[in-house]
Amino acid sequence: MVETVLSVEGLNVSFGGVLAVDNVSFSLKRQELHCLIGPNGAGKSTFFKAISGVVRPSSGRVWINGYEATRLPAHRVARLGVGIKMQVPNLLEGLSVEENLWIAARCRHSAREAEDIVETLMNLTGIEKNRISLVSDLAHGHRQYVELASALATKPSILLLDEPAAGLSETEVDELSSILQQLKNQTAILVVEHNTRFVRMIAESVTVFHKGRILAVGSPDQVFQNESVKKVYLGSN
Ligand SMILES: Nc1ncnc2c1ncn2[C@@H]1O[C@H](COP(=O)(O)OP(=O)(O)OP(=O)(O)O)[C@@H](O)[C@H]1O
Ligand SMILES: [Mg+2]
Repeated sequence: MVETVLSVEGLNVSFGGVLAVDNVSFSLKRQELHCLIGPNGAGKSTFFKAISGVVRPSSGRVWINGYEATRLPAHRVARLGVGIKMQVPNLLEGLSVEENLWIAARCRHSAREAEDIVETLMNLTGIEKNRISLVSDLAHGHRQYVELASALATKPSILLLDEPAAGLSETEVDELSSILQQLKNQTAILVVEHNTRFVRMIAESVTVFHKGRILAVGSPDQVFQNESVKKVYLGSN
């Protein structure tokens, strides 16, 4: 089995004159739970989008489970084993929780398998009680869980979560942390987050982005004590 599930080499993404991702190299191992942090506009979401085929890198290369995925469209990258929860809501508002998950699962599985996957994911995230609720009627915390379940519905080997704890209560953050710990033996997980408490709870290792570049990598304690990282967060760098 491939130990490194995601490998990125010298990735650049530019939007006109803005270099949103600047020469980033990164790798993620099987069963690793890694957090990506950094101030607003650092390039975290753009990095996720470039890995998952939502935006095209201007240069650099991406490998998923040993297959080159550079510049593949999003549906082909998903087939290589990437599940993504984007920063902006991405659910079918007029459909129920169950229907949303079923449609997500059917992208890669038979109808029979999709039914099993939907039940497992509703159990895992505790949203069975909202099974027939329309997504548009859900409270914010429940929506975040449906987003997470939806990203998991293809049974990805790499799960990318962009700000999954945004807007959650402290109790919900604790629940989410416990769900991610349970998922660790099934998939590698890369999480973009601003919530420091959550990052400290879940991350084995942390990468800090600043102005499109990697500023620091290490354990949560190492990066939060790093002087350059502190300066960036205080806005003086
Ligand atoms: N579609 C786009 N067109 C033009 N510029 C963009 C686009 N998407 C992002 N950018 C720019 O790229 C840079 C990185 O943005 P990105 O959204 O990746 O940051 P981020 O680290 O996710 O920030 P946040 O923590 O606020 O979500 C910013 O300067 C942003 O304005
Ligand atoms: Mg972002």
